[in-house]
Amino acid sequence: MSEPVLVAAASNRRRSNSAAIGRYLADALGREGVRAQLLDVAESGGLRGDLRPAMAALVGHGHVVLVASLYHDAINAVATATLEAWADAPPGESPRRFSAIVHSGYPEPVHTEVALAICRKFAQEAGWVWRGGFTAGASSAIGGRDLRAAGPLARHLRRALDRTAAAFARGEPVPEAAVRAAARAAMPRWLYIAVGNWAMRREARRWGTSDLDRRPYPSNDRDG
Ligand SMILES: Cc1cc2nc3c(=O)[nH]c(=O)nc-3n(C[C@H](O)[C@H](O)[C@H](O)COP(=O)(O)O)c2cc1C
Repeated sequence: MSEPVLVAAASNRRRSNSAAIGRYLADALGREGVRAQLLDVAESGGLRGDLRPAMAALVGHGHVVLVASLYHDAINAVATATLEAWADAPPGESPRRFSAIVHSGYPEPVHTEVALAICRKFAQEAGWVWRGGFTAGASSAIGGRDLRAAGPLARHLRRALDRTAAAFARGEPVPEAAVRAAARAAMPRWLYIAVGNWAMRREARRWGTSDLDRRPYPSNDRDG
């Protein structure tokens, strides 16, 4: 039997890609007949350090899904603060189930694997039951849009979320098929690098430079 799911999207910014992913998952769960609530942690107070809404939202939800973006090789600060707050939540009547989706700008899953493992560790430390999770790359392309409007670049992620919602409806954890779908690259590696370089150069021009080799500090291999 499925239980009400809290989808908590945590990012350091408003109109986040995490919220777009979380909204898609909550809608997919609804279509599967699972009661789901989306909480945008940043919008609800997380950006001001107010995690009371994130705490209050736990009530009535036996299963919590954290959707978090990767900032500097770790889950972002709002997501970390949320997990810290939840770790102090009073124990409910039944063990809380926990899943996590960690997504990143770079396409390769290797960037997000440690962050996902930290989420799994959180579940263990908090006494919550780990119900699986997955990583997804190249999420910057979502651009804060509705995931359906993000086109082919988000097709594997949409499939992973649909499969996850269907599994939760059956009372099952995140399925292997979702993990595999989310890990698939949305574009060939060479194209990703070409587009990334083009975007970096455009950004540099916007800031009045074209010299991307300059370093703000002297080389690290010398003292002084
Ligand atoms: C300050 C900052 C740091 C980031 N660090 C990483 C990183 O270490 N690795 C990575 O793959 N993507 C990184 N990204 C890209 C984000 O993970 C990516 O754009 C994501 O879609 C942002 O989602 P959000 O809008 O939910 O925060 C970073 C983005 C920002 C703004």
